[in-house]
Amino acid sequence: MSTERTLSIIKPDAMAKHIIGDIINRFEKNNLHVVAARMMHLSQSEAEQFYLVHHARPFYADLVSFMSSGPVLVMVLEGDDAIAKNRQIMGATNPKEALPGTIRADLAESIDHNAVHGSDAAETARHEIAFFFKPEELVG
Ligand code: CMP
Repeated sequence: MSTERTLSIIKPDAMAKHIIGDIINRFEKNNLHVVAARMMHLSQSEAEQFYLVHHARPFYADLVSFMSSGPVLVMVLEGDDAIAKNRQIMGATNPKEALPGTIRADLAESIDHNAVHGSDAAETARHEIAFFFKPEELVG
């Protein structure tokens, strides 16, 4: 096992439900520690840039619109195998396919409003962390 960092975003649907404490508690109980955090309201252009990899997908416009519709909490999580562990804790992208006990099964409504985002691989994590945070903003 190796110590990794991954990017986590609590999305506007979960922010509106005031469940950030529940979500962060799930990370901390699983030894994923928050080493950077910022609450922000993404502009349309920031959301477009962040999700650029999906620009050709049919859901891109809705995704950008949703992610810029309200505040988000952007975090860097650190821990052993943080990238895979975060994805396990989140559950499948579509809450209807997510295992019971995962964030998306317990707290999300739909594939569009699925409560959280997490980096899917080491290279993506590096890129996504650098998108939001300067190296000196990470502590721990
Ligand atoms: P996220 O992990 O933030 O990455 C891209 C997002 O696009 C994804 O979560 C979903 O919320 C959203 N999305 C909407 N439709 C789809 C789809 N068919 N496949 C994958 N992601 C989708």
